[in-house]
Amino acid sequence: MDNDRFLRALRREPVDATPVWIMRQAGRYLPEYRATRARAGSFVNLCKTPELACEVTLQPIARFPLDAAILFSDILTVPDAMGLGLSVDEGVGPRLAKPVRTRADIDALGVPDPETELRYVMDAVRLIRRELNGKVPLIGFAGSPWTLACYMIEGEGSASFARAKALAWDDPATMHKLLDIVARAVVRYLAAQAAAGAQALMVFDTWGGLLAPGLFREFSLRYLAQIAQSLQSDNVAKSIPLILFSKGANGHLEALADTGCAALGLDWTISLDDARVRVGTRVALQGNLDPAVLHASPDAIRAEVGKALASFGPHPGHVFNLGHGITPDVDPERLGVLVDAVHELSAASS
Ligand code: CP3
Repeated sequence: MDNDRFLRALRREPVDATPVWIMRQAGRYLPEYRATRARAGSFVNLCKTPELACEVTLQPIARFPLDAAILFSDILTVPDAMGLGLSVDEGVGPRLAKPVRTRADIDALGVPDPETELRYVMDAVRLIRRELNGKVPLIGFAGSPWTLACYMIEGEGSASFARAKALAWDDPATMHKLLDIVARAVVRYLAAQAAAGAQALMVFDTWGGLLAPGLFREFSLRYLAQIAQSLQSDNVAKSIPLILFSKGANGHLEALADTGCAALGLDWTISLDDARVRVGTRVALQGNLDPAVLHASPDAIRAEVGKALASFGPHPGHVFNLGHGITPDVDPERLGVLVDAVHELSAASS
């Protein structure tokens, strides 16, 4: 591995400069991404064509000195493989043609075999590893059971995912049945990505923060812990660092750190020093600038990077990132300013 800063930071080992990667680093803010997606015909075709998924994974790595690549795919490939039918249309966002609404719908679900129904993802992982040729590590990922269940029940994005919450309140046993099968699907999927060559794994619990504390523990945290534990009993995945990102769930950082994961992703509503004091040295931390900072001037971006580095302090175990994905309206040059600032300012202070 030419550059192992990211993996060292996840193990809380000293580094020469703080590693940085960006959620959604391969995406619509890059003209080369838009060109490849146009060639693919649709977002779903892009995900399902390993050569094209590999191409867009590598685009941000070619442009910026990022310290990790993330598999280009989507969390909704798993519900798609469970038969729900994914489409992502311009301006509409992701949609599942056959949402699950009844106990019978949920009883009919099976755990997909990653090397058949999700073979295109595993092929992409193998191809990306080959093309990266040790330049930077590759991150594999999946959605959390709660976040996937939100989309599976609703069939599309929603501000409140009230239909999913209503199922949790009205029929908790059925909700648990759904979360359990999705959790088992996610474990197999992540273990298969590790076997195919992913060098770190991340679980996106994007909608965990929509849940009140009791509901979060019962319907989100429990399954994140189940995933962390199950991966520990997989021969390959047990040695691969796991990053948990429960957006908006800052009230639960200690409990998330106790799941056995290697690192926690943080959104921008908590400072890195507060988070570090709360979780101690149990886990590394990944984050956490407000993605809107990329609309500010280069000087302001550098200043905000400096403040985040100072907030984390001179400790091992920081992976720099935004607190959520980069948005399509960002000028790519601003991301270059951020990445350079992370390396320059952290190297100067270490
Ligand atoms: O980070 C990366 O570069 C890897 C690629 C990645 C995508 N989606 C590509 C994508 C990852 C890690 C995801 C995860 C994902 N997908 C999450 C969790 C992370 C988060 O952002 O909270 C969620 C909730 C989804 C579901 C989903 N898929 C959404 C909300 C959208 C965006 C809809 C829109 O139009 O804004 C998608 C589609 C999607 N996934 C795009 C990309 C680059 C944009 C689609 C396009 O190119 O038209």
